[in-house]
Amino acid sequence: MKKIAIFASGSGSNFQAIMDSIKIGNLDASVELLVCDRQDAYVLERANREQTPIFCFNPKSYESKAEFESEIVLELNKRNVDYIILAGYMRLIGPTLLNEFSNRIINIHPSLLPSFPGKDAIGQAFRAGVKVTGVTIHFVDEGMDTGPIIAQEALNIDESDTEITLAEKVHEIEHRLYPETIQALFQKLSVIN
Ligand code: GRF
Repeated sequence: MKKIAIFASGSGSNFQAIMDSIKIGNLDASVELLVCDRQDAYVLERANREQTPIFCFNPKSYESKAEFESEIVLELNKRNVDYIILAGYMRLIGPTLLNEFSNRIINIHPSLLPSFPGKDAIGQAFRAGVKVTGVTIHFVDEGMDTGPIIAQEALNIDESDTEITLAEKVHEIEHRLYPETIQALFQKLSVIN
């Protein structure tokens, strides 16, 4: 069984979807740690409820990204974490984590990449007036929402959609597709190894 750490900065609905999938036996993984860079993030409450160990840090109390990422690496290695799952972690991953977890960091982004990378992807797509958007799950590299794509799912934007209904549709896909994709990837790896 793969050991994962989830990184999040916000509400943590994807964290919750992963936890729920594990509980009902759809995802064969154990969440060893939640890494969070904001003391006021709602995901911390969720992790407490789930009794998931938490490493919460304040980036401002470190001299550099390399410094806080080195501390994160220690926390991950202490728990033998295999994969890092980004779920709304609002920071670029630096070389310290990328080198240590090469090809073992996964992200979810609420658009069909390479369209609409960066912040507020749902709003960007809505304002651009595109008729189709979606969700992308990809390996993380040094870029902003770049890196090899693992899975994508498209959805239509209807005339009647508002930014709010669009966000609801996107999140519904995310909560199903993220655990499903992680499970498929882990299964594929277990066949290869
Ligand atoms: C999701 O839309 C995800 O695609 C993006 O950040 C959002 C996180 O939402 N990377 P939540 O904190 O999981 O609710």
